[in-house]
Amino acid sequence: MHDPLDGDTSKITLVRAKGSSVWDDKGREYLDCTSQAWSNSLGANDDRVVEAAIAQLREITHARPNFNTVPLLQLTSKLREISPGDLNRIGYCLHGSLAVEMAIKLAFKNRPGAQNLIVLQDAYHGRSITTMAASWPHPNNPFLPIQPRFTRVPHPDPYRPRLGMDIEAESQLCLHLLEETILKSVDGGVAAIMLEPIMGNGGHIVLPLSFHKGVRDICDRHGIILIWDEIQSCFGRTGAMFAADLYGIVPDIMTFGKGIGGGFPLAGIMASEKLNGFNSGEDALTFGQFPVAMAAAVATVDAIIADKLCDNARKLGDYATQRLVEMSERRKLIGDIRGPGLFVSIELVKDKQTKEPAPKAASEVYRRGVEKGVLFGESRYAGLGNLIKVKPPLDCTHEDMSRALDVLDDVLGSIEADGIA
Ligand SMILES: Cc1ncc(COP(=O)(O)O)c(C=O)c1O
Repeated sequence: MHDPLDGDTSKITLVRAKGSSVWDDKGREYLDCTSQAWSNSLGANDDRVVEAAIAQLREITHARPNFNTVPLLQLTSKLREISPGDLNRIGYCLHGSLAVEMAIKLAFKNRPGAQNLIVLQDAYHGRSITTMAASWPHPNNPFLPIQPRFTRVPHPDPYRPRLGMDIEAESQLCLHLLEETILKSVDGGVAAIMLEPIMGNGGHIVLPLSFHKGVRDICDRHGIILIWDEIQSCFGRTGAMFAADLYGIVPDIMTFGKGIGGGFPLAGIMASEKLNGFNSGEDALTFGQFPVAMAAAVATVDAIIADKLCDNARKLGDYATQRLVEMSERRKLIGDIRGPGLFVSIELVKDKQTKEPAPKAASEVYRRGVEKGVLFGESRYAGLGNLIKVKPPLDCTHEDMSRALDVLDDVLGSIEADGIA
């Protein structure tokens, strides 16, 4: 619980948002490179989404899960049209963490007797009791006594490969260790392996395709369910509708959230037709099928397709990446540049050789960006905390992206001049 009136007085109070901009209570405008937790795939308050939500508000705002509603049926058929492979069974809730819990429940339901679920070391899957336990280890975690335990395995990291290994060799090593873990390190069998196709909060790690292919193969050979947590990568952020499309791999269960609701709370799972669904009472949330969010989501998905926002994410992401590469030749703080699409971040380091993280510099980029009217994303990952994320809405203009990068260049220059790392 964060009581807003007890809290941090430096917090900005937002009063309005439109497209890639937000305004505070003092009338200041900011270019929002966070898309508010990477959730506004479509820019904020898109007229089509607002109108769809208002129209739905006038009809029905709440229905318990025993009933269908018109936007629920419309959204489900729309998602079936675009879902990867046979992921045609759709379930809904309001938050990503609960979508991950739904995926975990469905996996155990379909692998009766299995006792374990494997996750990656730097994973992030949410902040509910269960999903926090499935995420990177939290120092001094007070909830451990009531959290389930997951088995964490190492994953390849292209920027910091173990012992200076070639990334493909490291990918093979991690696959080998994963299989050994399944065979020798767990009692009672593994129900599922869960991973983010591009790891987000745990340091923005872009897993190599060979690792993804290898994990799919291991799951197939051992009869283990593969869960991809696409809450951060779904609905165009990577330049493809889903990372599953980008990599050409179909998991057995996929979570989605964030960008789908056009700013309204909505998340869920897409599951393979081969899996059994839930029985009555196994998964039902009072507000889990919020009709207003469903109507907003129908309009959002239509707009993402009609406005070709996947293409825009690719083009704008390419432009940002190319500018950042050029910037990194002048700015000694920039250690690495990550994508794909508009899943963009840079890692700030004290030294490009040692790659020692520079978390103070990252906090300064955020602070100085605010002063110049640009909100950059930060990372609070326990192990690093030195990422700057540049993830505006997918319909951000070239001009706005260019301004954000000019400001980034400028603040990095001033931070370097002040000797902060
Ligand atoms: C990959 C991933 N999974 C799950 C979540 C949790 O989603 P929520 O904050 O909506 O509960 C997040 C949120 O950042 C995420 O990035």
